[in-house]
Amino acid sequence: MKHATIAIIGAGSVGSTTAYALLLSDVGGEVILVDIDEERCKGEVLDLSDALPFCDASKVRTGTPRDASKADIIVITAGTPQVPDQPRTALVEQNAKIINTIIDGLKPINPNAIIIVVSNPVDIMTMCAQKRSGLPRQQVFGSGTFLDSQRLRGSIARIIGFAEQSIHAYILGEHGNSQFPAWSCAHAGGIPLTQFKQLTPEVLERVAQETREKAFEIIRCKHATFYGIAACVANICEAIIFDQKRILPLSTYVETFDVALSMPVVLGERGIEQQLELELSRCEKNRLAESAEKLRDVKKECPNL
Ligand SMILES: NC(=O)c1ccc[n+]([C@@H]2O[C@H](COP(=O)([O-])OP(=O)(O)OC[C@H]3O[C@@H](n4cnc5c(N)ncnc54)[C@H](O)[C@@H]3O)[C@@H](O)[C@H]2O)c1
Repeated sequence: MKHATIAIIGAGSVGSTTAYALLLSDVGGEVILVDIDEERCKGEVLDLSDALPFCDASKVRTGTPRDASKADIIVITAGTPQVPDQPRTALVEQNAKIINTIIDGLKPINPNAIIIVVSNPVDIMTMCAQKRSGLPRQQVFGSGTFLDSQRLRGSIARIIGFAEQSIHAYILGEHGNSQFPAWSCAHAGGIPLTQFKQLTPEVLERVAQETREKAFEIIRCKHATFYGIAACVANICEAIIFDQKRILPLSTYVETFDVALSMPVVLGERGIEQQLELELSRCEKNRLAESAEKLRDVKKECPNL
């Protein structure tokens, strides 16, 4: 996918930082920012354009929903953000309305577009966008637990002293309170993480809890999180544009659970090309089923899903 056009809908903290991460990651092409707050959007684009001399042939501009509908990749970051100590699921009703309005405004959508949903609760918003857009499910997915998994890998790397890139570990299920790490499949250099003497069951439990709660801590301190998620979304776009077939934990509709949640998937230029089935322990299988059940309950609160 050469000279891809990436439209970002919602030029708030997450959207504008994602645009910045995309410009700096030199994926090329054009970035279009769309927001109902036109002044804010204009200001973000003017500010971002000052970074262009340091980027590789990228363009950035404001646009309309019509412009966004023709893009190769459409990133949805519009929505009400969390307030301190609020679970992501509390945003379901108001953000579902926003997602549905946005998708309606995009129609007719480029039939080959890939839609990446970031707005929370991301698993439910992914299902809203899939249903409303009518695009094939493999083309509409959420950032899911990619960020949580990166947080997990970072913590483990610091404890055992290996590079983060050499830690293979996933957070599965909801991007929210029912998420869990799949320790039984986690390894570094082929050695199961559970065999490292520093990683006692107590340490693993603490790491899982800190991962789950990190967003809350950031929101308590500065009222928003955006750098980490922006880097994740830029990385997802790169995997699509360069057809990298990377394995990432993203939120996708899983037939057996009748809900979208995070599983490792293979990502390429056509979107999600394969869902991978991990060999989970009995306890992890139960936790995945519980996470899916919780999401199905939240889904019931969402009209038209
Ligand atoms: N998935 C993740 O890991 C993750 C991480 C951080 C934040 N988020 C979520 O991302 C969303 C945005 O967070 P933020 O901090 O950028 O919020 P923000 O308030 O800074 O920005 C939201 C923007 O959306 C715009 N908007 C609202 N309705 C719109 C519409 N119909 N069309 C176009 N634009 C519209 C607003 O004008 C605003 O500029 C929230 O739902 C938040 O919870 C997700």
